[in-house]
Amino acid sequence: MQNVNMPIHHYDDRDAMWDIQSICSQFKEYNTIDTDLYKIYPVARGLRNPDGTGVVAGLTQICNVHGYVMDEGEKSPVEGRLSYRGVDINDLVKGCVEEHRFGFEEAAWLLLVGKLPTQAQLTTMRELMTLYRELPDSFAEDVLMKTPSNQLMIQLSRGVLGLYFYDENPDDLSVENQMRQSFQLIARLPSIMVMAYQIKRRFWDRESMYFHQPLPDHSISQTILRMLRADTQFTEEEARLLDICMILHAEHGGGNNSTFAARVLSSSGTDIYAAISAGIGSLKGPRHGGANKKVREMVEFIKQDVQHWDNDGEVKDYLSRLANKEAGDRSGLIYGMGHAVYTKSDPRAVILKRSARRLAQLKGFEDEFALLESVERLTPEVLSEKGKDKVICANVDLYSGLVYKMLGIPDELHTPLFAAARVAGWCAHRMEEIVCGGRLIRPAYKAVLPHQSYLPLMER
Ligand code: COA
Repeated sequence: MQNVNMPIHHYDDRDAMWDIQSICSQFKEYNTIDTDLYKIYPVARGLRNPDGTGVVAGLTQICNVHGYVMDEGEKSPVEGRLSYRGVDINDLVKGCVEEHRFGFEEAAWLLLVGKLPTQAQLTTMRELMTLYRELPDSFAEDVLMKTPSNQLMIQLSRGVLGLYFYDENPDDLSVENQMRQSFQLIARLPSIMVMAYQIKRRFWDRESMYFHQPLPDHSISQTILRMLRADTQFTEEEARLLDICMILHAEHGGGNNSTFAARVLSSSGTDIYAAISAGIGSLKGPRHGGANKKVREMVEFIKQDVQHWDNDGEVKDYLSRLANKEAGDRSGLIYGMGHAVYTKSDPRAVILKRSARRLAQLKGFEDEFALLESVERLTPEVLSEKGKDKVICANVDLYSGLVYKMLGIPDELHTPLFAAARVAGWCAHRMEEIVCGGRLIRPAYKAVLPHQSYLPLMER
């Protein structure tokens, strides 16, 4: 389906003056790098050391992602630990649950400022969120509706870039200005996300679009559910679960792909809108935040192709076919499994799994939950039989999609929700990069190109 209200220019390959096939076959001929060269030159491919650990690219006080210890030069797997500004993620979640408080705003403050907010600061944070979540007049019409899309991550990214034009002081890198912009983005991303979804409903699904007004005393998770649902209704339990999901997705160290992208852009001195939209672009990828959508897709493939989901043998066979690129999206990846840092466990997945299990029992999704548990249990066996010796565990994306599904949140919003939470971490890292980094991030690439003499046009 094409965007409905856009003049479409149809490019016809037959009319084109160029032949895409022949250009691409030339490209393929001239653009290969022998993988053996990576063994000859000391290149940290993917910014990884030979033992698989990440190259240390900077110092941070925002977050610690702990997944292994080095024992006599060997990587030794341990249970995963995650802390925001030194506060263990389990304690952060437990504190909010036990004190019956929505915690995402608190986590965002902690990440941005550096200390847990006092009661008065939390009130200020909530007031700021209420004040800032309102989007500028005509923003929806001018930025989102002109070219409606069903790709909500691109809409989100465009929405963030569009905010540049409504900011009277977009390029000022002072801490005060960055802090204002950060709070505004944390408040506004959920609004942009839901608005983009409503517009998609109207233009792509031919269904009703509704823009419900948020309520001033609502938390971000309550606001999202209220704006999303036709009748604005949700339960306290649903909002609290979404809140926990958002706390867990808010931050994950400086080296994850999207945060590093935001840090790279920030190190050049560019504006916050460019940096955060780069983060969103990175998060969209299926190896990163887009994996939550891919897990849902993978589950659908399994449901279609495996007759008995409760039969380990059948599920394992199918997972082997996925890993061998014979089934699913043929990428060879089993989504929701594996992590660059975590080995034995991802603490976010552990927390989400608990919530998913409880909700699955309540809402009758036990079968799907059990299937994900089988994927978690059988994937390490499948990969190890393929000779991959990496210790592998379920990551945050394995169970998050099921939780969202049980909350009635449509699949296309799963990755945007990740972005709406992670923006807190991106902003914190951007500020740290500007204030404490202070150097253009600029790694090197070893040139392995042959010499080519310039030839005059007539001699080529
Ligand atoms: N499915 C199939 N193979 C996997 C895998 C998975 N989920 N996770 C790792 N592997 C394979 C890798 O392809 C690699 O194989 P190779 O040596 O033949 O290239 C090997 O195991 C080692 O993994 P490595 O590439 O070092 O892992 P990484 O740290 O670069 O990858 C991820 C981390 C997350 C990118 C990877 O585990 C992955 O792609 N997972 C699936 C996507 C996903 O869920 N992403 C969300 C992350 S929160």
